[in-house]
Amino acid sequence: MDLSDELVKKTICRTEPAYKRIGGCDIEPPNPCCFVIFGASGDLTKRKLIPSLYRLHKNNLLPENFFVLGTGRVEMSADKFREDMLATVKETFPNDFNHTCWKELAAKLYYSPLDYSSSESYKKSLANQLPVLEERHKTNKNRIFYLAIPPAVFEDVIVNLGNTGLSHEDGGYAHIVVEKPFGRDLESAKRLNSILKKSFQEHQVYRIDHYLAKETVQDIMMFRFANSIFEPLWNNKYIDYVQITVAETIGIEQRAGYYEETGVIRDMFPNHILQLLALTAMEPPASFDADSVRDERIKVFRSMRPFPLDRLDEYVVTGQYGSGKMNGKNVVGYREEPGVSRESTTLTFAAMKIFVDNWRWKGIPFYLRSGKRLLSRKTEIAIQFKPVPHMMFSNLLNEPIQPNTLVFRVQPDEGINLVFQAKEPGSKVCLRPVVMDFSYQGEILLDAYEWVLLDCMRGDTMLSVREDAVEQTWRFLTPVIDRLESAIKPEKFSNYAAGSSGPAEAALLIERDGRKWRSL
Ligand code: BG6
Repeated sequence: MDLSDELVKKTICRTEPAYKRIGGCDIEPPNPCCFVIFGASGDLTKRKLIPSLYRLHKNNLLPENFFVLGTGRVEMSADKFREDMLATVKETFPNDFNHTCWKELAAKLYYSPLDYSSSESYKKSLANQLPVLEERHKTNKNRIFYLAIPPAVFEDVIVNLGNTGLSHEDGGYAHIVVEKPFGRDLESAKRLNSILKKSFQEHQVYRIDHYLAKETVQDIMMFRFANSIFEPLWNNKYIDYVQITVAETIGIEQRAGYYEETGVIRDMFPNHILQLLALTAMEPPASFDADSVRDERIKVFRSMRPFPLDRLDEYVVTGQYGSGKMNGKNVVGYREEPGVSRESTTLTFAAMKIFVDNWRWKGIPFYLRSGKRLLSRKTEIAIQFKPVPHMMFSNLLNEPIQPNTLVFRVQPDEGINLVFQAKEPGSKVCLRPVVMDFSYQGEILLDAYEWVLLDCMRGDTMLSVREDAVEQTWRFLTPVIDRLESAIKPEKFSNYAAGSSGPAEAALLIERDGRKWRSL
């Protein structure tokens, strides 16, 4: 059936004359700025930052007046830095590399070695050099300081930026970007916030969580608050439970050093997963501005019921992968990964049951799970509705019918689907579940990192995490992590095979409540 009469197929998009058209949308380009990377010879710069800047440039979304100043402990020339970055970009986009585009960006890349702990070095490498480059590239003193360094050196860098006056906004902006996890528990998160506060004001701080910038995650708010038909059902009267899954097939890749210190709970829960929960559970903000939205997200965190530590087994299940098969290939267990201790008790899987004790969600469990080396890569939020109040077909059917499910498919196959019952043609009482599906296939233009970088340049903090939210999520999870770490028994691991759906106890966590995990 042709729906064109009913459906006004028009994209309504905020637009201004200076906006750039990408795909079907107009995007606000950033103002002139410079991008200072701390840790420019490191893994994050290679894997994410430079490839993202390259793609932004290719999409015409970097300002003309722009440059990158890479810094790091490694002594190397700007030419060597450009050479390394070229190799990285070519490797990341083997089929999509454009030499002209790279040359334009490479002409704006510089490198200057820096001793993170020496104030002299900041003067020489940054305070003296930045104004010269700013004059050359006319970047209007707008500065972004990106910490692509291990947390152990955050303090040195932040304090020295303050001491050398570089954090000071003098005719332009000075934004500092900190990646998750922000600290490793409540105490360290508070400490990090207080160090930041000594040199920067809150509006200058971008605590980035790239999950918030995924198109499908941003769409949760649009879906909930730009449609009138779902919100009346969005509560404990109609929803039975919510499942949030972030399943990965990858192991820890080259990140043993980071992962051994972090583990799945610190890596995924206080940030990515609880942010997904907040967007699902929050109240409608009064307006679509950074603080109104962030206020609502934090109210959810404040309403999360503390875990009963004496009965933690009923609420949290953890695991570590052993060897197994992924896509027909044998893969090693976590303890055999390069750089990992053979007795490691680091967690690579966790499942939790969480309650949000407020008017809307009282009594509704949120089942969360995340793990590495699982059967498939899948990030989704599934809203499971309650069965109909009276089943008038029950005396005619032999089994109960499946209640409605709404699924936000965050990745892959980004989209939304709603499962509902429809009559099967033929017999009078014959029902089958059918799916109404919306897919973003082929439409995702910028990846999450590219959005995050654009926002830092444009001064939009909506997708960054505010100080109070960081502390609240750690306040909630720190007692659990402490309890788990103090009770952990090395002989428990490994307790799930690579390529499986996780530990058997994880199934029990939800089956005890008469429910089931969705398949991976
Ligand atoms: C990162 C975690 O923040 O997110 C990684 O540190 C994880 O361990 C990654 O693999 C997942 O991100 P994405 O976008 O691939 O789902």
